Amino acid sequence: MKTLWKMVSELSTTNESSPQGKIIALMNQKGGVGKTTMAFNMAHALARQSKRILCVDMDPQFNFSSMFGVNPAERPHIHHLLVNSLKELKPLHTACLLDEVIVRAKTIDGVHIDVLPAGQELSGFELTVAGINSPRQLILKKFIEKNNLRSMYDFIVIDGPPTLGLLVVNILCAVDGVLYPFVPDSFSQQGLKNIQQVLEDIREMEICPVPRNLGYIPNLFDARRKQVHADFEKIGADLGSGRMFVPFTNRVQFTKAQASRKSVFEFQANEFKEIQEQFMNMAQTVQQELMS
Ligand SMILES: Nc1ncnc2c1ncn2[C@@H]1O[C@H](COP(=O)(O)OP(=O)(O)O)[C@@H](O)[C@H]1O
Ligand SMILES: [Mg+2]
Repeated sequence: MKTLWKMVSELSTTNESSPQGKIIALMNQKGGVGKTTMAFNMAHALARQSKRILCVDMDPQFNFSSMFGVNPAERPHIHHLLVNSLKELKPLHTACLLDEVIVRAKTIDGVHIDVLPAGQELSGFELTVAGINSPRQLILKKFIEKNNLRSMYDFIVIDGPPTLGLLVVNILCAVDGVLYPFVPDSFSQQGLKNIQQVLEDIREMEICPVPRNLGYIPNLFDARRKQVHADFEKIGADLGSGRMFVPFTNRVQFTKAQASRKSVFEFQANEFKEIQEQFMNMAQTVQQELMS
């Protein structure tokens, strides 16, 4: 019997005028630079601009899922869906359907966000798919296509892992654009350089279009420290022509929001206004860039 999800997704694809959703990812090989924080708040900013949003957690540490209050230890997650999407591996694994995994996470102030959670098993993804014949780099891209996710959502926001490797290649091959959060220090810059190298490899392999650089997001910027300004100038020059968003300073509001698993938009206090605006502006820029 057809699942409800399949019927809905077929209906969406038969409507030829249905717009195609865009896919973005937050990437940096370095951990602790704000990928998950930015992904979570960007998703909420996009949702507030009347967008249907799907958040996809691609980090085995599943912080993004936790922000939505999802505990993947108790349920199937993206790893099981990806493995099940492969003909060669499907018979070896427990069956798993999209509508068992997707979490209708939130409806607050009319804002609706769905989530595809990650879980620890995702750290074994590379090994699990090592022997397959189909292109291993395109598993996520094909999964999104097969399930018509672009016609179900206006934006799909992917949170990337602090690693290089097959998960990162799969993300870069599946998305239209990438946002790069970074802390103005040399480790974080190295993390960006390593991702750029993966993009170069993808370009050379000619397996898929290379995603657009939507911009760099300087984070945890400590304006009082002289060295930070010097590092920031140097990183800006090294990164070249990409868009540089307004830096986020170290803000206690992020800690408060994270502690209560809320986006910065769910707080009325004045102290949240500035970062709310920052995210709304970034969301608008990303939309304009991807629609152009
Ligand atoms: N601008 C900021 N001000 C204060 N804390 C921040 C800021 N950006 C991120 N954090 C905190 O830093 C930690 C790491 O951020 P996170 O988004 O998890 O990074 P990543 O996903 O790159 O590992 C989190 O506890 C987060 O709340
Ligand atoms: Mg993270």
